Formats: sequence, structure tokens, C-alpha cells
Amino acid sequence: MADAHAVEYHAPAKINIGLEIVGRRDDGYHDLVTIFQTVGLYDTLTVRQAGDMSMTATGLAVPTGETNLCLKAARAYFEATGEDAGCEIALHKTIPLGAGLGGGSSDAASTLRSLDKLFGYDVDLHEIAAGIGSDVPFFLHGGTALGEGRGERLTPAQNPVSGYVVLAKPDIAVNTAHAYSLLTPEDYSSGRQTRQLFAKLSAGAVPVDEANLITNGFQNVIEKAYPPVRELRERMEATDAAVVLLSGSGSCVFGLYEQIEAAETASNELQRSGYWSLAINLV
Ligand code: C5P
Repeated sequence: MADAHAVEYHAPAKINIGLEIVGRRDDGYHDLVTIFQTVGLYDTLTVRQAGDMSMTATGLAVPTGETNLCLKAARAYFEATGEDAGCEIALHKTIPLGAGLGGGSSDAASTLRSLDKLFGYDVDLHEIAAGIGSDVPFFLHGGTALGEGRGERLTPAQNPVSGYVVLAKPDIAVNTAHAYSLLTPEDYSSGRQTRQLFAKLSAGAVPVDEANLITNGFQNVIEKAYPPVRELRERMEATDAAVVLLSGSGSCVFGLYEQIEAAETASNELQRSGYWSLAINLV
């Protein structure tokens, strides 16, 4: 971009290739073991230096008030620096909301990276990110990473993980805090399986070959509370997917495929049945 006072970022969505809920903590959060994986679906964010703070949004409808995570991120950044500065944020929203795809968290992380590029203050971006939301630190770097604790303790994979994924979603938005409130100890597990999966992927294994290790602790409660999610999962299981799973706390369901052609065929079929759906790459 020619304008030295503005930067543009593509903020990717994520899926969770495995998510185990270990238990509820005293602070109300839950300890997790999950594998975060960015995928090739992006919001676009332009951040420009300005005297004040402001935000506009195009594309999918998204609130642009103080609850917006981009504005929260920008405020947290300037608070940490102690500088009386501001920025204009223009967001083009493509990642569906309430889908478990991390769009808001990714936008927040891209805001922090933009401000770091524009202003370059010596602040701890990871710490600021963790204060905005549990998934935000992951999006500072993206790729494939094991997430532990609330999701903010990250270990990047040693090797890039590749594959084809179909995302699909019923016309339902799931509120993350509500999803966590539905969990009971029956949904908890040790995290051992997801750690074992991560070790394999990190050593170069491909996810489609490790289907038996890929699990999501939210699957039962979300399918019970939102029957259209179960219906979609069953529809996708009838395609050539090697694995079908809920992403995060939903409502998006994803499938992993060995061949791009099979992924595209499945996605087209789901679109014809009325679902929002895309066939893309892990990135
Ligand atoms: O961290 P974030 O603000 O995205 O989390 C939203 C809500 O989801 C939290 O207020 C909490 O209720 C729940 N949560 C949780 N355990 C996590 C992450 C989120 O209980 N690891």
C-alpha cells in the first residue's frame, strides 16, 4: 500500500483440529487442550493513523461499537503504550459470526499487528492479546499451534500442516459463553489424545490419516442444543470426508478431505441444500 500511514491485513479464520475441555477453573474459564489451525478464509482490515479512534465495517453485518474486538484491541494497545494516539479501522467482514471460526479474535489480532507496524511501541502484544480474548494470541502468528490453558498458552507446530477443508454452517449463531455454560464434567477429558495428535502433526503426519484422534468436547452439548448442527454433521459424513467435526463451540462444522475435487463436490452439494459452505486450504 502506497500510504505510509496505513496498513492492510488479511485476518484468517481458524478451525480446531481437536478440542478437549479439561475442566472448569476457579476463575470461571475452562482449561483446554486444542489444536488451532488457520484456514484460507479472510476478513480484510485496513488500519490508518489518526487523532481519534473510529471504525467502519462492510460485508457481513457486524457491530462497530465499543464491543467490537478491533476497537477493544486498539484501545488496549494505546493504553499499554500510554500514548495519546488513535486510528481509523476499516473492516471488510467475510468470516461468519457465531460460527466457532474465530473471526472476531483474528480481527483483534490483526489490529494489534497493524498498530505494531504503524507505531512500533515496545509492548507485549501477546499479553495485550490474551486480555482481549482467549483465542486472540493464537492469531498473532496463525498456522498450526497447540493451545493450552484458556487457549492462550501456545506451542507452534514444527512442520506446516496441509490439507483440504470444507466449512459449512447452518443458519445459527452460537454464543461462546453460552456454549461453555452447557458443559458438564461428562464433557471433560484429559487432553492426552489431542496432545498425542499434535505430536504426530508436528512431526509431519497429515490430519486425514489421524481421524481416530480428532475429537471435540463441545460436540455432544452443541448437537443436543442445536439439532441442525447434528443434521449438518450427518450430511457431511455422507460425503468423502475423512473427518467431520464441529469447529470450536460451533455452529460451523468442518470436514477434512484427501482430494481437493472431493472437497469441492461436497461443498457444492451442501450449498445446493441451502448451507453456507466453502472448500478451502489449511494455511
Ligand atoms: O476469552 P473469551 O472472551 O473469548 O471467552 C468468552 C467466554 O467463553 C468467557 O467469558 C468464558 O465464559 C468462556 N470461556 C471459557 N474457557 C475458555 C475460553 C472461554 O470458559 N478457555
